[in-house]
Amino acid sequence: MRDVAIIGCGFVADLYLRSFALYRDVKICGVFDHDADRLKAFCNYWNLPSAPTQDALFASLPKGALILNLTNPGEHFAVSRACLGAGFHVFSEKPLTLTMKDARALHTQAQAANLHFATAPSSVLGQAAQTLGHALRNDTIGTPKLIYAELDDGFISQAPYKSWKSESGAAWPYGDEFATGCTLEHAGYYLSWLIAWFGPVAFVTSATASLGGAYANKAPDFSTATIYFKSGMVARLTTSIIASHDHQIRIFGDKGVLAMKRAWDNSAPVRFHRRFTLRRKLVEHPLGKRLRLSGPTHPKVKRFGAAAMNFALGPIEMLDAISAGATPRLSGDYALHLNEVTLAVAAGDTQKMTTTCIPMEPMPWAL
Ligand SMILES: NC(=O)c1ccc[n+]([C@@H]2O[C@H](COP(=O)([O-])OP(=O)(O)OC[C@H]3O[C@@H](n4cnc5c(N)ncnc54)[C@H](O)[C@@H]3O)[C@@H](O)[C@H]2O)c1
Repeated sequence: MRDVAIIGCGFVADLYLRSFALYRDVKICGVFDHDADRLKAFCNYWNLPSAPTQDALFASLPKGALILNLTNPGEHFAVSRACLGAGFHVFSEKPLTLTMKDARALHTQAQAANLHFATAPSSVLGQAAQTLGHALRNDTIGTPKLIYAELDDGFISQAPYKSWKSESGAAWPYGDEFATGCTLEHAGYYLSWLIAWFGPVAFVTSATASLGGAYANKAPDFSTATIYFKSGMVARLTTSIIASHDHQIRIFGDKGVLAMKRAWDNSAPVRFHRRFTLRRKLVEHPLGKRLRLSGPTHPKVKRFGAAAMNFALGPIEMLDAISAGATPRLSGDYALHLNEVTLAVAAGDTQKMTTTCIPMEPMPWAL
């Protein structure tokens, strides 16, 4: 049995539970939320054991359990620190922490206690990201030169977001989402893939703007960043809750373009658009060729709201690695570096990275 506990059972926790339902050998052995009503609603819906306090949760868990920190970003550091302090491995929702001082403190604490900590998103271990990684390793587009990645979510201030609810009835936490900002909330979805494929970032130049809406005076609602990798790769990443919905990533190489349109869908098609000349024109094949991995990949969840992602991929891989005595692909070094790059993308200036990590091993089914 893989033992998993949860702290924070709001909107995203239901997406985790729907994903864990795909794995028969996962036991959710305890749940805590400081909102007693939310805790009760969630545990009743999923038939899970609740703990009245965080310390009671820690006392009830088996040694070696993995705690998922699904609290709000401003709470991530304190909750993860408490979990590591109580002797448990931690998988935190993103962003890992809101400052690098806090992220470094967690990294040091985990290392000293011989514990693992990791950060979402898990989609880097999903089929779409792994298919793109496989194509890059196999020279499909020749030498990759430049990446354009978009995480635009549409004009969210005009969406009926006040009525969005999770499966067990948690309201979408729009106040917290707008205060944290779309860049800290979303940049990690593509940054995690880029760091996994191309390794550590050298520096980031970013610009942000607060363009307003119902959530004026909150965090910027637009950012664009140019990300320079130590390997020489260059990527441009855009996030906004203003521009029309666009979640595509395009990787431009000297033989053509790799393209994928749905960042939050593990099953999204990956296409290769070959570049060629036709009489006096330079053409990129308009339809492209769909690329597929040869065997089965991982369990998939149905779409709920904006996402069709298996949120359990990271925690499951982490538990498998820990029980095999290996370092998880979502390692502490990777979490620290991803957090530094994410904070730099949101900063609206130029920052040299001080942390590093190694490129991520592909999943065994994507070799
Ligand atoms: N909402 C989404 O669609 C979504 C998707 C992916 C990731 N996330 C990430 O998941 C995390 C949680 O987001 P959410 O949308 O579920 O928020 P939410 O506000 O719906 O849920 C957070 C829950 O954590 C609880 N909580 C907060 N601090 C706590 C503490 N110190 N101890 C115990 N419980 C505490 C709150 O009471 C709340 O029930 C965030 O980091 C967010 O970025 C959200």
